[in-house]
Parts: sequence; structure tokens; C-alpha cells
Amino acid sequence: MASKQLLVLAGDGIGPEVTGAALSVLDALSRRAGTAVEVKEAVIGGAAIDQTGYPLPEGTLQLVDKASAVLLGAVGGPQWAGGPRPEAGLLNLRRHMKLWANLRPFEIFPGLEDRSPLKNAVGVKGLIIRELTGGAYFGEPQERGGEGDEAWALDTMIYHRYEIERIVRLGFQLAADAGVPLTSIDKANVLESSRLWREMVIELQKEFPGVSVVHRLVDSAAMDMVLHPQEFQVVVTENLFGDILSDLSGGLVGSLGLLGSSSVSGVPGTPGLFEPVHGSAPDIAGKGVANPIGAMLSLAALMRWSWQQPEWAAQVESGVKAVIAKGLRTPDLGGNATTEDVTNEIIKNLGN
Ligand code: NAD
Ligand code: IPM
Ligand code: MN
Repeated sequence: MASKQLLVLAGDGIGPEVTGAALSVLDALSRRAGTAVEVKEAVIGGAAIDQTGYPLPEGTLQLVDKASAVLLGAVGGPQWAGGPRPEAGLLNLRRHMKLWANLRPFEIFPGLEDRSPLKNAVGVKGLIIRELTGGAYFGEPQERGGEGDEAWALDTMIYHRYEIERIVRLGFQLAADAGVPLTSIDKANVLESSRLWREMVIELQKEFPGVSVVHRLVDSAAMDMVLHPQEFQVVVTENLFGDILSDLSGGLVGSLGLLGSSSVSGVPGTPGLFEPVHGSAPDIAGKGVANPIGAMLSLAALMRWSWQQPEWAAQVESGVKAVIAKGLRTPDLGGNATTEDVTNEIIKNLGN
């Protein structure tokens, strides 16, 4: 496998707008460095359903298997209600690539303090480590039955020990690297799966005597993430809780459009899926005003993790920060810049 074969799955809604912006940045960087990157594109989600009837067609999977990393925009939208679900394409892709860890960093960037709802928006910088291929998202059975008042719907929340062990161990490692406590979030007062989760955290703590652990119940943890976000530096949690709390972190930092993420198998240098935390944003799709920063930070994470190219990643991240500090903002941040304005400015500021 050539070292830099990128597959772009733009998807639906604002997906093509934000991945297009990230690709412009990649193009500028690879030209400057004189390093060729082979970029391929394929369909996923609603766009794939429209074209093939399936949210994750075989042709896309074949390209996924050849890529050294995958950049995804977003999937879903109201036009696909009732039929096959676009979101199933993304879930099946995460499973297919065996990406059990989803890293979702959040940070109030200097210059955006006024966009945070927090009164004291200083020192908010954390990482949510979300388990990505287990829990209620994948548990079987998932089905419907009955009729009328007796109609029922069933989801299954199941975790195996090995699934918990690998994500919690990654949590300990990342907390140890950062020299901060590990916050484990569960619902052990109610859910059996959370009690197994908590047992595993307690067991693994013996391997990491230098890392202190805080166990939190998800309901009060959500409240405290708003009241004392500085305490949530490295968080490890199961799939559904991580989904919800990471959008909350988007609110804390001023916009969901700012968050990038890495879906990985825990081993740097291997292919991963890099996707902004936000969705397809049907309310603004096609208007050219989507915030491209989440997609660009996802691209930076891709460069660092799958391509082991930290100097490229750092250039993207510093370009983003420089443009934020200058005050250029898309409408989600209270400005009137377009996606293209922000992208061009970031390209000018790469490495600044
Ligand atoms: P959403 O994240 O699409 O949008 C929530 C709000 O945030 C909207 O007001 C939107 O305009 C705004 N927003 C999101 N990203 C933005 C950006 N980059 N710039 C500016 N504003 C931005 O969530 P939703 O509306 O609940 O979901 C819409 C669809 O997206 C659903 O079909 C959902 O399943 C899907 N979804 C997909 C992904 C993914 O593909 N990874 C993630 C979340 C939701
Ligand atoms: C996310 C999204 C997905 C999830 C959906 C679209 C399947 O909300 O990446 O956060 O719930 O994981
Ligand atoms: Mn989500």
C-alpha cells in the first residue's frame, strides 16, 4: 500500500462542502511539500442509497480496504426517512474497519471565548474517548413487534469484557501520557453493562498506579461538564453516552462545527476513519456557509494518526487557530464568512 492513499466519503448535506474544504487544504500542503497524495472518492449514506440502493455499497468497501485513511463528511437527512437508513452506512463502516475507539477532543480556542455559553471560558480543553463498536448501537436483537397499543420496540445494550478492556486501557494510556486523571463515565447505579464497565476500570487501574480515576454517573456528569468543564480532561465512556456528551462539548466550545474526531483501532499508523463530530446539518446544507473547521481538524488528526505526519497536522491546526484568532467566522460562530472565505484564509495561514 502506498503510504498516502486517501479515500474521501463526502456523504450528505454539508458533507461535500466540508470535505471539499479539507481537501483544498490537503492539496495546498501536499503541493508545498512536493509529496503526492492519491485521493479517491466514493459514496456513502443517503447519496449511496440514491445511487445504488445501499448506504455502504460493495464498491465503496473495496476502496476502503485499499486506503491508508478515510475522511468522512456526514451522512443522513430528512429525505431518507422511512427507507434504508443512511446512518447504517456509517455504523457498518466503523464495524467493517474495526474502529472501536473514537477520540473527540474539545477546546475553547483563543478568540472564541465569547461564543461559549460559559461565564468562565478559560482552560477548557479535554478529550472524550468514546467506545465505538459496542453497546446499544450494535446489540442484537434490535427489533419491533406487536400492534396498536401493544406495539413494542427493542434495543439491546450489550458489552463484552474485551470490548470494555481495550477502550478503558486506551483511556488509561492517554490519561497517563497527558499526566491527568481519567474520568470514567457510566450508569452503574442502573445498568448491568455499566457495572461490568466499572469493574474493568477498577481492575485496570492496577496497571496504571500513577493515574487517578474518577468514576462518574452520566447524568450528574453531564451537569458538571457544563458547570466545571475544566475537570473533564480525559474522559472514557461507552458508545451512546460518548455520542451525547461529545455534542455537549461542542456547545461548550461555541459550535459543533469546530469538533473533529478520529475513529481508530487503537494502533497509530494504521488506517482510520476521520470525521467531524457534527452531522449533515440539513438546515444549512448547500448554502456554502458550513463551518469547515471540524473537517479540517479531522484531516489533521488523520495526518497524525494514520499517516504519522505530525508536521502536516501541526500546520493545519496552527492555520485554523490563526484564522480563529483573526476573528474570521462562519455564521454558527456569529460571523458572516463563507466556507470558502475561511478555507482560503486557513490555506494562507498554514503553519502560522
Ligand atoms: P447536526 O450535527 O447535523 O446539526 C445540528 C446543528 O448544528 C444544526 O443547527 C446545524 O446547522 C449545526 N451544525 C452542525 N455542523 C455544522 C457546521 N459544520 N457548521 C455550521 N453549523 C453546523 O445534527 P442533526 O440536525 O441532529 O442531524 C442531522 C442529520 O445528520 C441526521 O440525519 C443525523 O443522523 C446525521 N448525523 C450524522 C453524523 C455523521 O455523519 N457523523 C453525525 C451526527 C448526525
Ligand atoms: C456521530 C453520529 C453518529 C453516531 C450517527 C450518525 C450514526 O451522531 O458520529 O456522532 O451516533 O455515532
Ligand atoms: Mn453524534
